Amino acid sequence: MHRRRDVPVIAIDGPSGSGKGTIARRVAEALGYHLLDSGALYRLVALSAQISGVSLENAQRLAELAHDLDVSFGSDARGDEQIWLANEDVTALVRTEDAGAGASTVAQISAVRQALLERQRAFRQPPGLVADGRDMGTHVFPDATLKIFLTASAEERARRRHKQLKDKGLDVSLAALSRDIEDRDRRDSERSVAPLRPAKDARILDSSGQSIEAVTQTVLDWVASL
Ligand code: DC
Repeated sequence: MHRRRDVPVIAIDGPSGSGKGTIARRVAEALGYHLLDSGALYRLVALSAQISGVSLENAQRLAELAHDLDVSFGSDARGDEQIWLANEDVTALVRTEDAGAGASTVAQISAVRQALLERQRAFRQPPGLVADGRDMGTHVFPDATLKIFLTASAEERARRRHKQLKDKGLDVSLAALSRDIEDRDRRDSERSVAPLRPAKDARILDSSGQSIEAVTQTVLDWVASL
């Protein structure tokens, strides 16, 4: 039996659109580690609430939904992510801006965060874990092997999100996206429970103007130098 705290964790935190998801996936693939996309769990809570008609103000019901989430993560034949909620493929629904905004709202509720804590920690399995989120280094894995706070300028993050959505055939205005990103940053940073901020021992990595490959390589270099 392994002891969970002996399993290495690379925590990658940062604001929306900083490229965390992509970088975390690349780093996990390169190291052969498991991947935790914690944002997807908050998105799934918001989505479950919508499906079952639970108000985003009903903290107790939301915490129950979070506790009982029947979710599985996988990938299709091309290696693209797939997410199922009780046997229903919700991959596309989870990635909508609506689910993101809902996630940011339910993420302010302390009982929801508490309900997701153990589920997130259970992803810590050998040979290691790359954990992507807002509070991986500060709350969920305070003993992480390496903590990275990945950031990028607000303009660049809005531009990236715009391109991502456009590639999926969704037409959203850049100005509206910038406003959404600023609102979400504010909500995520100003909430009283587990606010978005770098852990004291995190390394700050600004990805503005850098390619995905360059940022991935920096992280891998840091891992190699541990
Ligand atoms: O990374 P994302 O866009 O999928 O996250 C969606 C929302 O979930 C984000 O606005 C804040 C919340 N979140 C959180 O509070 N803590 C995490 N560890 C991950 C996400």
